[in-house]
Amino acid sequence: MLFSLQIDPSISTDFATAFFRFGHSLVPQNLKRLSRKFKDQGGVQLSNAFFNGKILRDIERGSVLSIINGALNQRLQAVDSHFSKSVHLELFQNSTFALDLIALNIQRGRDHGLPSYLDYRKFFGLSDVKSFEDLKAISRPEDVEVFKTVYSSVEEIEPFVGMLAENHLPGALVGETLANALGLQFHNLRYGDRFYFENAEKPQAFTNAQIDAIGHVLFSRVICNNIQILRIQPWVFRMKTDASLDRRLISIRPPLGLTWNSVAIDNRRVSCDDFDKIPMLDLTPWTENADILG
Ligand code: HEM
Repeated sequence: MLFSLQIDPSISTDFATAFFRFGHSLVPQNLKRLSRKFKDQGGVQLSNAFFNGKILRDIERGSVLSIINGALNQRLQAVDSHFSKSVHLELFQNSTFALDLIALNIQRGRDHGLPSYLDYRKFFGLSDVKSFEDLKAISRPEDVEVFKTVYSSVEEIEPFVGMLAENHLPGALVGETLANALGLQFHNLRYGDRFYFENAEKPQAFTNAQIDAIGHVLFSRVICNNIQILRIQPWVFRMKTDASLDRRLISIRPPLGLTWNSVAIDNRRVSCDDFDKIPMLDLTPWTENADILG
């Protein structure tokens, strides 16, 4: 599919005010810190990290390196209705006050006049929900029991609240309403933006060969080249594996125009100097007359 003038690439109010805030459920209560040799440097409670630059400059505990190495080796929380205390009860806490990010999200949805959770289900063509019992078929029953105590009917449920209670789609981290909302926004960003870098419509900032070269760079290479870390798993958004047989399926970026492939990856840690496993950016396509060089 090509760029289309008919698609509006802007971020929708629904996305900013409810759906993409799902990330608040991923946030951990403690940030792990690991030295470059993977020695525990003591975690940081998130509520102690807000507005606290000292943590990044704490040389004895490995400053930024240990925070990044910790994040590379820490799982996110699940997308659900549970939140770390640091964002739920202790957001930006000081001696006199604290905020509740989840309450802010719900109130922000009301400020913006967002439709109800069920309106979004209808908009995305998902199954009809008429009662709390219907909701139990698609959401976690214990969440629905709580909803019954605060909403007088299912129509009142806010999108931020309803989407996080949904059962996850098979193999996915999110439920069906959020999956649709994410899919729609990222589709619009990609196909409605004339300057999106993978857009096949020419002229573009990059040639196809350049885009292909960029697509072969892993984020682990960016990290290796910028902090003095020694070893890293090649696919940094996945946890490391310990045995070569313990392979994980991931989707990889295909050459232009092809559909995404699932491949089994070996995600054991490798040295940052292993340029086979973590390649450098191939700058050949940027040389003058690269097309002549072949
Ligand atoms: C420590 C982690 C985080 C903190 C402390 C935090 C805090 C906040 C705060 C205070 C707001 C404004 C709330 C309001 O008054 O309406 C906000 C908005 C938002 N957050 Fe987070 N957030 C965090 C992580 C995330 C993550 C991981 C995501 C998504 C993956 C995310 C997505 C958003 C979005 C989309 C908005 C609305 C932005 C806008 O409308 O301009 N946040 N966040």
